[in-house]
Amino acid sequence: MIYVKDNLFALHTETVSYVFRATDSLHLEHLHFGRKITVDDRSIPALMEKQEFLTGGLNSYDEEHRSLSLENYMLEMSSYGKGDIREPFVEIIYEDGSSTSDFLYDGYKVMHEKPEYETLPGSYSDYGRSEQLVIYLRERYSGIVIELHYYVYERCDVICRSAKLRNESIQTVNLKRLMSAQVDFDDSDFIFTHFNGAWIREMNRVDNAVTAGRIVNSSYTGTSSSRANPFVMLSRRGTSQNFGECYGFNLIYSGNHYEAVDVGSFSKLRFVNGINPQGFSYVVGPEEYFEAPESVMSFSKEGFNGLSRNMHEFVREHIIRGTWKYKERPVLLNSWEAAYFDINEEKLFSLAEAGAEVGIELFVMDDGWFGERNDDTSSLGDWEVNEKKLPGGIKGIADKIKQLGLKFGIWVEPEMVNVKSRLYESHPEWVIEIPDRNHSEGRNQRILDMGNKDVQNYVIETMDRLFSSADISYVKWDMNRTFTDYYSKNLPPERQGEMAHRYVVGLYRCIKTLTGRFPDILFEGCASGGNRFDLGILCYFPQIWASDNTDAMCRAEIQEGYSYGYPMLALGAHVSSCPNHQTLRSTPLETRFNIAAFALCGYECNLCEMSENELDAIREQIELYKEWRSVLQFGDFYRHDGTGAGNVSWTCVGKDKKYAAGLLFQGLAQPNMPDKRFVACGLRPDAKYHFYNRKFKVMEEFVSMRVDTENEDYHVYGDVLMNCGVRLSQGFAASGYNERVRVFPDFASRIYFMEEE
Ligand code: DGJ
Repeated sequence: MIYVKDNLFALHTETVSYVFRATDSLHLEHLHFGRKITVDDRSIPALMEKQEFLTGGLNSYDEEHRSLSLENYMLEMSSYGKGDIREPFVEIIYEDGSSTSDFLYDGYKVMHEKPEYETLPGSYSDYGRSEQLVIYLRERYSGIVIELHYYVYERCDVICRSAKLRNESIQTVNLKRLMSAQVDFDDSDFIFTHFNGAWIREMNRVDNAVTAGRIVNSSYTGTSSSRANPFVMLSRRGTSQNFGECYGFNLIYSGNHYEAVDVGSFSKLRFVNGINPQGFSYVVGPEEYFEAPESVMSFSKEGFNGLSRNMHEFVREHIIRGTWKYKERPVLLNSWEAAYFDINEEKLFSLAEAGAEVGIELFVMDDGWFGERNDDTSSLGDWEVNEKKLPGGIKGIADKIKQLGLKFGIWVEPEMVNVKSRLYESHPEWVIEIPDRNHSEGRNQRILDMGNKDVQNYVIETMDRLFSSADISYVKWDMNRTFTDYYSKNLPPERQGEMAHRYVVGLYRCIKTLTGRFPDILFEGCASGGNRFDLGILCYFPQIWASDNTDAMCRAEIQEGYSYGYPMLALGAHVSSCPNHQTLRSTPLETRFNIAAFALCGYECNLCEMSENELDAIREQIELYKEWRSVLQFGDFYRHDGTGAGNVSWTCVGKDKKYAAGLLFQGLAQPNMPDKRFVACGLRPDAKYHFYNRKFKVMEEFVSMRVDTENEDYHVYGDVLMNCGVRLSQGFAASGYNERVRVFPDFASRIYFMEEE
C-alpha cells in the first residue's frame, strides 16, 4: 500500500513500513524502514530530524537553511558536493568540470502498472495490483532529472527501488555513479553480512561488525561473481535464524556491483547498492537517459529465516517467469564429470541408457560436442557439431536419447571465443582486448563484446539455429571467465567506461530474445558454477548451476549460503562420484543425494561404471525425489541454529504445511557425544504429524557390512517437533550395535519426513 499526504510518503507491506518525506529545503528525508508503523501527515514532527543550530565543523546547506547540515541527515538519496560527505547516490561531472549536484524534490506520481525497463530486467507481478511510486528530483542548476522508482510487494514484505537519470539539460554530462538504493539508518549498531568465495568455494557467510568507516562488498569481475554475491544483510546483534531484526538487499543485475555500508561522524549508517562505480562512467547527452538496476529490499523481525522466506517468495513470484515458474524441474544426468571433453555418440548413448534405467528424465550433453573441442584451448565461437564425435549431428544424438524416453539438453558458452577458432579469425573486432597490448587470459579464452549489436545478433542467430536443429528441451548457458583488459573496439575513448555495463545490457537482450523464442526450453545459467548467480540471470533462466563443487560436505555449506537470499528452486545440485573430483573426499552416496535433494537434484557421474548396489540406491533415490520434489523444490526452506561447525540441519515445508522434509548432516563424527535432537521449523503447531526417517542402506565403503538405517517413527504435534524436537536414536559409540543404533560416521546424513495425519 502506498500512502501519500502532504509530502509524506509511506510504503506499507504486510509487516513492513518504509517512510520518507520531502522537506522545506526540498530534500528527501528518510524517516523509517522496519517494523510496520501507522503514520499520517501529522506524524512528521515526531519523526523528523531536529536541527536548530549548526554545530562546529559542519557546512550549512544554504543561506535560507542555515541550520541544515546534509552530513547529519537521513537522506533518501544523496548527491555529491553539498556537504554530505558519505557515500553518494549519484555523481556527475558537468561540462565545466564541476562535480557538485543539488537534486531537489520536484513532484511524484503513483502508478498501478509497472512499465518494463528499456535496458534491464526487473521484478514483475502477475497477481493483484503492482503499486509504484515515482519521485522526481531535478538538479537545481542543470535541470537534469532523477526519477526514484519504488515498487511494493506486500505479501512478501519486499520493496524494490531503482533510479533513472534523464538528461533534460543542454549539456553532455559524464555520469560517474548512479546507485539503485540508498537507505540511511539512525544508528550503526548492525552486523553487515555478505557472502564471499571463489570458484568451487562459493557463498561463505562473512559477518562484519559495523563500527565506523566503510565496509564494501563488490565485484569487478564483469559478473556478479563468486567472489562477492550481491545479496547482503544488515542485522541487529544477536539475530539468529528465527529471532531478531534483519534487513536483506539484493540487486537485479549480473555485472559489476557495489554494496557499501558507510558510518559517518554522527553514527548514522548509510547503505547503498548499485552498479560498481569502479571503472564505470557513462556519457549522457541531452535527451538521453540512464537506467540503474532494481534493488530489492526486505526486512524481517523473525530472524534470518524470516528474511529468507521473504526473499524466496519474492524470487519465486516476482523474478522467475515463464513456462517453468511453477513446473517441477526434471531429474537430469549431465555428462561433464562422467566424461569431460572426451565424448562421442556411443559413450553418451550408453550413459543416457544407464540413466534411463535408474529413472533419469533429462540427459544433458555438456562441453566437447562442437568444433575441435577436445580440451579448453579451442573452438568456442564455432557452434557447429564435431561430426567425428557425433556423426548424426545434434539431431542424431537427440533423437536417440529421446527414443530412450529421455529429454535432451545441450551445453553452450555463447559469450566466449577461443583465439583458436574461426570466429576469432573472422571477427577479431568483436573481442574484448586492447589492441597491440598483451592480453591476460582466463581458461584460454576471450570474451565477446556483448555490448556490440553485431555480436548480439551473431549470438542470437547462431543459438537460434542450434536450438532449432533438434528437439532440445534444456540449455545450460555457461560463461567461464572473468574480465581483464576492459576495452571495446566498438566504443570511442570517452565511452570506454560504459563497456562493462553495455556488456550486461547486451547479454540481457540476447537471453531475453532467445528465451522468448524458445519458451519451453528449460535454461540453466552457469558461470564456472556460481560466478554469475544473481537475480538478473534468474529473470530469464529459472535455475542456475550453483557451484562446480559437487562434494557433499562443501555443497551443504554452499547451498546453505545461497539459501539466505535465493530459493532452492533456483539452485542446480548434482550427485557425483567419489572420491570427489574437487576435494578428493569420499562421502556416502546417500549423503550426496540427501544434500542434492534439498535443491534441484540431478546426477553428474559415470553411471556405466557404478556397481549394481549403487545403481539400485540411485534408482530408489530418484523415485523418492520425484515423490517429494514438489515439497523440496517449491517449499519454504529453513536453516536450523546451533548445528556446530561443518554440520547443517534444514527443514523444507510444503506450501500447505501438510508435508515437510528435514535434513541432518554431520561433518566429522565425534564418538560418545550427547544424543541429537531433530528440531523442525515452519510446521503447523496444532497439526499432528507422522515423523519418520528415510530408510536406506548405510553403504559398505563406510562399514564392513551394508546395514539398514535405524528406525525413527513417531506421531507428534507440530509444536512438539518445533518447540521440543525429536530425540533421535542413540548414535553409534563403539559399545554395541543393533537396529536401534544410528550409524553416523563422518559425512553421514538423514532425511526425516513429516506428514500431517
Ligand atoms: C564450467 C561449468 O561450470 C561446468 O559445469 C562445465 O559445464 C564446464 N564449464 C564445461 O567446460
